[in-house]
Amino acid sequence: MSNYHIKHLEEYFKTHRKSVREPELFWEEIAEEHFVWRKRWDKVLSWDFRKPEVKWFEGAKLNITENCIDRHLRMKGDKTAILFEPNDPNAPAEHITYNRLYERVNQLANVLKSKGIKKGDRVCIYLPMIPELAISLLACARIGAIHSVVFAGFSSNALSSRINDSECKMVITSDGSYRGSKTIDLKGIVDEALIDCPCVEKVLVVNRINAEIELKEGRDEWLAPLLETASTECEAEIMDAEDPLFILYTSGSTGQPKGMVHTTAGYMVYTAYTFKNVFQYRENDVYWCTADIGWITGHSYIVYGPLANGATTVMFEGVPSYPDYGRFWQVIEKHKVNQFYTAPTAIRALAKQGGSFLEDYNLSSLKVLGSVGEPINEEAWHWYNDNVGKRKSPIVDTWWQTETGGIMLSPLPYITPTKPTYATLPLPGIQPALLDESGDEILGNQVDGRLCIKFPWPSIARTIWGNHQRYKETYFSAFDNMYFTGDGALRDEVGYYRITGRVDDVIIVSGHNLGTAPIEDAINEHPAVAESAIVGFPHDIKGSALYGYVTLKEAGEERNHDNLRKEINQLISDHIGPIAKLDKIQFTKGLPKTRSGKIMRRILRKIACNEMDNLGDISTLLNPEVVEEIIKDAQQ
Ligand code: WTA
Repeated sequence: MSNYHIKHLEEYFKTHRKSVREPELFWEEIAEEHFVWRKRWDKVLSWDFRKPEVKWFEGAKLNITENCIDRHLRMKGDKTAILFEPNDPNAPAEHITYNRLYERVNQLANVLKSKGIKKGDRVCIYLPMIPELAISLLACARIGAIHSVVFAGFSSNALSSRINDSECKMVITSDGSYRGSKTIDLKGIVDEALIDCPCVEKVLVVNRINAEIELKEGRDEWLAPLLETASTECEAEIMDAEDPLFILYTSGSTGQPKGMVHTTAGYMVYTAYTFKNVFQYRENDVYWCTADIGWITGHSYIVYGPLANGATTVMFEGVPSYPDYGRFWQVIEKHKVNQFYTAPTAIRALAKQGGSFLEDYNLSSLKVLGSVGEPINEEAWHWYNDNVGKRKSPIVDTWWQTETGGIMLSPLPYITPTKPTYATLPLPGIQPALLDESGDEILGNQVDGRLCIKFPWPSIARTIWGNHQRYKETYFSAFDNMYFTGDGALRDEVGYYRITGRVDDVIIVSGHNLGTAPIEDAINEHPAVAESAIVGFPHDIKGSALYGYVTLKEAGEERNHDNLRKEINQLISDHIGPIAKLDKIQFTKGLPKTRSGKIMRRILRKIACNEMDNLGDISTLLNPEVVEEIIKDAQQ
């Protein structure tokens, strides 16, 4: 018998031990008992981190949508699968039952087929948080097309580079989107992006805001009329366990974003299993994750994990501050939400508004509170615990990554005693290790190091689209025979883990991972700029904010600095999106460099964080004199 649903601490420890001793058997039992397969696997796992190569449930055949939809129809056809809460608080919520979801996914799947999309083709999805977004993911999965969702806050440049990287044949978008009291012209952004995307043949457009848009002859079509005439039956494409399910881009410390590839069976098994346990989901619970489906959290814990468990998952189109800062609490009360999963940056923004918005609403339905995306600071943890959970709903601080596909470290609510700011213990199947800089594993407790994972789990990303070498270099080369996360962590006296933050040049701003390199590239395009370096510094709402050091070409020095700052941020907005704008820009005569010419970000980071007292040894720098100058200017 599998331990699909863990119910107490002893059972957790027992299950974790089993998952380490007999990983194949452990996952095989879960896969066997809780999913539908068209054909059983020949082999549970083969792996080699040195290549690297990981395969789970090889030889098995399945379709993930049969697991997320079809199999629930008999018993739960009338249960709400997706509960859509629109941006406008006065507009009605939409309850999409499993029966209806089945029909809508099939209709869209048939439309995709009629437009020439086949198994293995890539479809880019650039949509706001409306039901069509979740339905698009599932429709692609229904016919074996690989979806690549791009967060609808990214700029046209960011969109086109992602479309081209994986050569998407189609884009699914909308005429526009609502964001609080504003509307955003999504179709205009797509049009601009597609000027540079010869691979895109078709664009399907959802009408969301009744905008007057132009449809490009032969390329663009409104989706609604196509759906109306499409059949509600669509045979599921039978997929191999290791066929790609989706690509999702994430920022790296260098170069262009990486298209992480997730495959079918392992991803399904792991996201379903972790959803059940981390949220202790029970039949008839209403679960709400506030993430956008443009990020991995939305893929795994709005769409696939919940639906694989036959859950009711809330999709929220709006923002926490519209019409006021009580919006989250109002939605919780309205839909009697039981599990609420959000990001520390939202918690901090709401905490800053004080408790008054909370008082108006009844939050007694809440049973579990989740946190994800960045380290949660002690103050935010307590505010969440005291004011939202009323000290009755445990907080699950879930640590994981786009690359891991599912939650890796987390307490199990009502089971694992929580500790503020700690992600606590590994989930079953996860074998974390802390390593020192020379690559040795640090054993014992009360230690800290670089967080690695020793053994594969079912939902590990299999590669970077089109660049397996980069996958190897990024995750499997820092330490031998280990997956390296890029995060630092400490292990306390009882073996609980706390994530201390990135140890590379990725900066997490409001829960969004931003690589420094693409931002610097954008800045350097400014004709007055010679060079730039970006670092993170603490920010009370965003967690980290961006600090840019910019050196100007001679001609640029004459220019008004405030205007330059505006132009630089505009360039960043155009290239990446407004989320990557800099909070501070300091113009400097030079950047501190090693003798080999590498920018010493460590020093710049300390200056940005106001930690000038311990800059370390700067005498080996090529140009130690610039450091003093930078400090002097920073203090002005
Ligand atoms: C960070 C989001 C501390 C971490 C699911 C990781 C966290 C990166 C936590 C991945 C947490 C995520 N505590 N840090 N609970 N969750 N992170 O790919 O640095 O968007 O490597 O996946 O976010 O971000 P990503």
